[in-house]
Parts: sequence; C-alpha cells; structure tokens
Amino acid sequence: MTRTDSDSWDLASGVGITATMVAAARALASAEPEPLIHDPFAAPLVRAVGVEHFVGLVDGTAAVPEQAADAVAMLTAVLAVRTRFFDDFFADAAAAGVRQAVILASGLDSRAYRLDWPAGTTVYEIDQQAVLDGKNAALAALGAAPTAERRAVTVDLREDWPAALRAAGFDTAAPTAWIAEGLLIYLPPQAQDRLFDNITALSAPGSRLATEFHRGDVVAALNERSQQLADSWKGAGVGLDFAALTYRGERNDAAQYLAERGWSVTGRARTEVFAGYGRAFPTGQEAAGLSDSTAIVAIRD
Ligand SMILES: C[S@@+](CC[C@H](N)C(=O)[O-])C[C@H]1O[C@@H](n2cnc3c(N)ncnc32)[C@H](O)[C@@H]1O
Repeated sequence: MTRTDSDSWDLASGVGITATMVAAARALASAEPEPLIHDPFAAPLVRAVGVEHFVGLVDGTAAVPEQAADAVAMLTAVLAVRTRFFDDFFADAAAAGVRQAVILASGLDSRAYRLDWPAGTTVYEIDQQAVLDGKNAALAALGAAPTAERRAVTVDLREDWPAALRAAGFDTAAPTAWIAEGLLIYLPPQAQDRLFDNITALSAPGSRLATEFHRGDVVAALNERSQQLADSWKGAGVGLDFAALTYRGERNDAAQYLAERGWSVTGRARTEVFAGYGRAFPTGQEAAGLSDSTAIVAIRD
C-alpha cells in the first residue's frame, strides 16, 4: 500500500498494522524475566486483532525464522525502553500537576487503562477511526476499565485534528502532557511541522511534550532493517512494506523546531536512554537505524 493524502487503515492493514506489531513487542517485553514495563493489555489486544503471526509471537507458538530472531529481540528491547520512557514522562507530568494528557496516534497504547493517573485526569487518544473502533471493541470485550477519564478522538492527524480534539472537550487553558510515540516517520515532513505548530498553539504554559525523532536519512536505514524483519514474516501472511508506509527525506529536526517555538527542549540519544534504564543497546546489524534516534522532552514555560 502506498501512502496517499486520504489513505485510511485498520489494525491489520496499512500503517495500523505497525501498531499491532509494536503491541506484540510490548507483550514480549512485559514477559521478560526482569521486565522494564508491565503492559497486561498488549497480548490480549494483539490476540483480538487476530493477525496470526503476531498472535503466535505473543503466545510463543509462532515459528520465528532464524534470520528474524535477532530482529524480534531488538524490537522487543527497543519497545521496552521506549514504552518506559513515555510511561515515565506521564508520571513526571502528573507529579508536576498536569491533569490533561493527549496520546497522538495511540494505536494499541493501553496507558489510559494501566497507568496510575491522579484523580481528575482526562486522557485523549487520537488515531484513525478503524484503529480506535477496533481497540475500543477489544478493550470492552476484555472488560477493561480506564484508570482516567478516557476520550477517543477519531481523526487523521494530517487533517484538522485540533478541531476534533476541542470538540471532544480538550481544555486549551489547562496544561497538557502530549506524546507522539512511533508517529513522526509516518507523517510527511510538512505534517510533522504542522503537528508541532498545532501542539504549540494548543499548549497552555506548563504543558509538556515527549516524542522520538529519526532524521530522514536514518528512516531509510530503519526501513531497510525493519523490512528484513517484515520480509521474514511474509510467509506467515504479514504484509508490511515499510518503505511505502513511511516518509523519508529531509525533515526539520524536531528538537530544534520546538526550541525555536519557545519550548525548553531536552534531547537524549536512544543509547543514552537505554543506559539510563541500566540496559545496553543491542549490537549487530539490526542496530542500524534503530539506535539513531533522539528521545525528546519539551516543556512550555
Ligand atoms: C507504530 S504505530 C504506534 C502506535 C502507538 N503510539 C504505540 O507506540 O504503540 C503508528 C500509529 O500511528 C497511527 N497513525 C499514523 N499516521 C496517522 C495519521 N495520519 N492519523 C492518525 N493516526 C496515524 C497509526 O494508525 C498507528 O496506530
């Protein structure tokens, strides 16, 4: 599937299947002996989506081709650290008194159901209609109850999502904690800029934003590695074409872009974030691209 301005998808196709892939990795990370994260909804959500190979991965019944084993381990290691980084970001924001959160491109993110939100917190989740419909149905079937006031906002992030967010009750006067996790590479460069412009316009003083940024040239390396993994799944019926799903080429550096718009920005290399959690970044060829990202936290004074 090649991206167009009006493409849409569910959790088993297009960009949506990447949400299922990373949820599978979160399930594997949660099942590690000394886990960095605990996402009890990841495996059930993957089962509910029903992409056979991912179900087999989380259940330990899929035959992982030898050439894919390292890549699956790498994806799991990255998702453990990435998930924990964003979990900690929300915990810090809550400790600082922020009671409004927005999860951009939430996919199968279950934070609205598993984090310890302070009373009075509202969590908005934004993603495509079919993605959130599928997720809502799966969570309802599981009898899961959100741990905050959760509002699902179905809209394309390349369109006028601020209007949809406001219509769902978003308070522009309240400080907000925003996350854009696993999203930027799926947006065209101009849409990334517009995303940050919109976030900036909607952010009252005291708002915070966390994201992970890959330079355009790194996205190409990332695609190449991710595609090797995806190709090893082809026989198992998983059709993933990363080059067609992501947008490569020059894009503004997210940290610099936000700093120029009045945010106080801290950026850390992914390898540093790993070290901060006492984990070494895996070595080997799978590391290309994946190691080269910056974890960003920005605060609006
Ligand atoms: C790799 S997944 C990440 C999901 C989630 N943030 C996580 O880390 O588990 C990418 C997500 O971005 C969403 N997405 C990508 N482009 C989007 C757009 N233009 N509008 C809305 N959602 C989008 C997809 O539907 C998918 O859920």
